[in-house]
Amino acid sequence: MYYFQNLAYILACLLMILSIRSLASPRTARFGNILGILGILFAIVAALSIQRFPSILFSLTAILLGAIVGIYSAFKVKLTSLPQMIAAFNCLGGLAAVCIALAEVLSSSPKLFDNTLGSIIGGLAFSGSVIAYVKLQGTIKSAPLHFRFQHLLNISLLLVVLILAGIFITTGLTDIFIILTVLVIILGALLVLPIGGADMPVVISLLNGYSGWAAAGIGLSLDSSILIIIGTIVGAGGTILAYIMIKAMNRSLLNILTGGFAANSKESPSSSVLSANSGSPQDAAFIMENAAKIIIVPGFGMAAAQAQHALKNMATILGNKYHADVKFAIHPVAGRMPGHMNVLLAEAGIDYQDVFELADINQEFSSTDVAYIIGANDITNPSAKTDASSPLFGMPILDVSQAKTVFFVKRSLGSGYSGVDNPLFYAPNTIMLYGDAKDITEQIVKFLEQ
Ligand code: TAP
Repeated sequence: MYYFQNLAYILACLLMILSIRSLASPRTARFGNILGILGILFAIVAALSIQRFPSILFSLTAILLGAIVGIYSAFKVKLTSLPQMIAAFNCLGGLAAVCIALAEVLSSSPKLFDNTLGSIIGGLAFSGSVIAYVKLQGTIKSAPLHFRFQHLLNISLLLVVLILAGIFITTGLTDIFIILTVLVIILGALLVLPIGGADMPVVISLLNGYSGWAAAGIGLSLDSSILIIIGTIVGAGGTILAYIMIKAMNRSLLNILTGGFAANSKESPSSSVLSANSGSPQDAAFIMENAAKIIIVPGFGMAAAQAQHALKNMATILGNKYHADVKFAIHPVAGRMPGHMNVLLAEAGIDYQDVFELADINQEFSSTDVAYIIGANDITNPSAKTDASSPLFGMPILDVSQAKTVFFVKRSLGSGYSGVDNPLFYAPNTIMLYGDAKDITEQIVKFLEQ
């Protein structure tokens, strides 16, 4: 029986790995999803196959309850609320790790080191995710929360946790384990409180990684190869994603964890001295009608305005009626979560073939007639290349200024997430189209249709 169980576990792991591989491209993502579902199914059946009555009844009840919550969430949760949902699921993963560690500690032969590891990482994932959830949901203010001696308190708490972990591993005293777990849960909440709203995607990825590592730690104490492997995949996935985001934003982990970005942000004085050209949707429609090549650059404002369907209409008319070559350029940190723009463009039915990553399209701006920047700002800011004092310095940008005409669709000359002014607004070939991204694009569509 155990032979078949192990075989099923190996199959499940292979399916998970292939699933992640397939999820890397929009073309194969659906297939990847199916592989992932099959992998989980194999793992569940294998785990249940060696259970006897009554424990199998508990497992089946838990699976049923989980399935009800999962199916309900899949149908009900809006795309824009996905980060909250991931936070909620991370929270459950962390809590499960803490519960299993506690149950093991209360058992006759606990593995002290493994249980401590599971409880510390699980506890951090649990309370950190609760705070992330309430911030993303808007239950509490999402702005970074700072108070005096915050870092000192966090470091002291971390030291106490490490000392208690050392005592528990050497003595095995249950009371110490419980105090340690409570302190870790407080520490997890305190660590996420100073992190600002827009840094939350990085934190969510990190917490996702924590919940994976916690599962791997629990897998060690339960001698479960599947938990170790899947936990490690989730842990590594979350950590690598957080690392990619941090790199693409040209930030450091310490900077994000201490909520330093907002504190550094400042508005350049140039905005009060320079003036920007502005135009109307009609002007934009006229220029685009006569353009042979157009690159659309979506950003956070497109998502906020839900302008993706209007954008799809605009691109279709420009292509079909005016025979323009229309492409979409996606910056790795456009919007507020990984793949934010890709998901919205796919939702609107925009062909994957027309969507390009920064590295694949950047050299094309110099041969482009119109760059249509819709609700994007930081990802086009040239000071990332030229101003060493800018918080954006070092971040790769989309070279939209190389296009003959640059349209910026936004409501004002205000800054984006980084809080710094964009000198491109004042460039001679830039035309600002002031207004809501969806509204302006719909007006352009009307003029193009006439
Ligand atoms: P931002 O630089 O934040 O700029 C978005 C712009 O959209 C704003 O300047 C705003 O200007 C405009 N806007 C907002 N609502 C709008 C609406 N309804 N209609 C039209 N315009 C609207 O966005 P970006 O260029 O996408 O850059 C992303 C930023 O977020 C980067 O700094 C990145 O580091 C950061 N970030 C990204 C992620 C991920 S994973 N994607 C995670 C955390 C942080 P107005 O107010 O003038 O309209």
